[in-house]
Amino acid sequence: MAEDFDVSLNETAVYHPDPSFRNQEMYKDYATAYRDFLKDPDGFWRNIASDLVWFRPWDTICEWEYPFARWFVNAQCNITYNCLERHVKNHRRNKVALFWRGEGEQERILTYDHLYKDVMQFANGLKKLGVSKGDRVCIYMPMIPEQVIAMLACARIGAVHSVVFAGYGASALNQRITGAEAKIVITAESSVRRGKTIPLKPIVEEALLHAPTVEHVVVLRTQQPPVTLVPDFEVDFYELMNGAPKDCPPEVMDAEDPLFILYTSGTTGTPKGIVHTCGGYMVGAYYTTKYVLNVMDNDVYWCTADPGWVTGHTYGIYGPLLTGATIFMSESTPDFPDPGIWWKLIEEYGINILYTAPTAIRTFMKFGEEWPDRYDLSSLRILASVGEPLNPEAFLWFYHTIGKKRCPIIDTWWQTETGMHMITTLAGEPMKPGYAGKPIPGVVADVVDRDGNTVPPNQGGFLAIKEPWPSMMRTIFRDEDRYRKYWESGNHPYYSTSDLAVKDNDGYIMILGRSDDLIIVSGHNIGSAEVESALVSHQAVAEAAAIGKPDPLKGNIVKAFVTLIEGYTPSDKLTGDLKYHVRQTLGPISVPAELEYTDTLPKTRSGKIMRRVLRARELGMDPGDISTIDE
Ligand code: PRX
Repeated sequence: MAEDFDVSLNETAVYHPDPSFRNQEMYKDYATAYRDFLKDPDGFWRNIASDLVWFRPWDTICEWEYPFARWFVNAQCNITYNCLERHVKNHRRNKVALFWRGEGEQERILTYDHLYKDVMQFANGLKKLGVSKGDRVCIYMPMIPEQVIAMLACARIGAVHSVVFAGYGASALNQRITGAEAKIVITAESSVRRGKTIPLKPIVEEALLHAPTVEHVVVLRTQQPPVTLVPDFEVDFYELMNGAPKDCPPEVMDAEDPLFILYTSGTTGTPKGIVHTCGGYMVGAYYTTKYVLNVMDNDVYWCTADPGWVTGHTYGIYGPLLTGATIFMSESTPDFPDPGIWWKLIEEYGINILYTAPTAIRTFMKFGEEWPDRYDLSSLRILASVGEPLNPEAFLWFYHTIGKKRCPIIDTWWQTETGMHMITTLAGEPMKPGYAGKPIPGVVADVVDRDGNTVPPNQGGFLAIKEPWPSMMRTIFRDEDRYRKYWESGNHPYYSTSDLAVKDNDGYIMILGRSDDLIIVSGHNIGSAEVESALVSHQAVAEAAAIGKPDPLKGNIVKAFVTLIEGYTPSDKLTGDLKYHVRQTLGPISVPAELEYTDTLPKTRSGKIMRRVLRARELGMDPGDISTIDE
């Protein structure tokens, strides 16, 4: 069965996985499930939400006052109760919640009971520092169990966490700390990458030079001898935790209270603080982890994303803990100490579900089949992908070389803003390489023109979401206008994803790329404007433009065009300096892979740089309408 495939509509190969992959507990087949959802959307969400524990039930499922939604209105809950007590009080008390592997052979194992106790005690530590419901806490840590404990401890007491990926530089971190008006920053002295120690605390110190809201920094000390802390301002992670009372009842949260803020790049230089809530996000994360990723009670589940990104939030931590799964988490990079490391870990831990990104898959393709072929991968049941289009070549490699034609490939399309999966091909449904799939039950999505009218099949358009869903962002922190813009498109208002897409005759959606100035590099969002403002903050740079250029491994790379201030001349040394400057300001992921000096940049008569023209020139394409260009 699994080997069956046919080439039908649009000459796309269709792969038919074994229908027994369908999560029978949840749905018979996609078409029936989707029809059932459309017949009774409230009933659909009520059923799912009823699996979870609420301290007070909702009055209504959804109140929609365009463009603002409230879900599970007046219900009360705490996501940590559902992630921890719900399991500890039932049969999962001694079940492994988290297997963690460091880059070396270090291993840490936390049962649900351990995690529950650590979270409560650290939560009490935060209370001792004066953190209370609604306060923002910035978490800047590597991928270690303490990062999970810190996030859940915030949620336990109703503090709003804002996790910042530990690869960000000081200026990017400062923007996120001050933007969220964080009261506390939780960090680690250092992280590890490819055997090297990477100091984090100095980056935090620099980021805090102008961060007036921060009252304390909690530091996980990792080195010997441990770093000296500034009395009263800096606090040791474990001293804080171990000195606190053990029992911490969950804060009673309104379903609409904020759970976290997560910053994502936008089309301006200022990142957007996406706000997610306690009730709706919880339901969305639970539903999709169970329904889309098919996580079952006995599974060991590995999501390779760092909790610094939304995938790490929803599918690295909250979703799997809500379903009571065993999470595998590893700091490891795909090629260290050798390109067999991931496959070795899969064999060793008997991993059943692997959720990763196309860029990682393409990296492994480059290393060759001999690496995965050395290990027993028969424990794998489901393979999933996120972050950028899974190109057919990568799909096929994943399907054949890793999944051995047994495992469905689940390409999940979603965003920081959506909080949960939106478009995918459910396990057991026919798969089309190159196509993410269809809107999942619970989601109404379409490909539309600018006005919101559906475009005919096989014609490109904008990917739009037409109805609210529980885990949709509620606002952008301190910037409601920017939130409204997502819903302000066309005559038939819809949530604009800013992705371009095409739908085939069977309703399968292929994501074509972004319609705005976001560059997706290795599945990470990078704003052209952020890179440009980092470049122009260098003394030699007059103007800069950054575009995305397709790359076989990373999906895209950043290419920057730079004009210099009088008196500076292009040189390899200056290029190195500029790249270093971007690295220090924003972090390594934003560094332009290519940098070109130019005397002028194409601009509109009003002075706006036309990145579109640069992109077309770079790719040898038609630049389109250039009537507004200033000669
Ligand atoms: O352009 C789409 C791309 O990543 C964007 C969202 O980025 P972010 O908020 O950082 O969240 C990434 C993880 C959910 C989308 O607008 N994207 C994400 N998943 C896919 C994708 N593009 C194509 N296929 C996907 N499966």
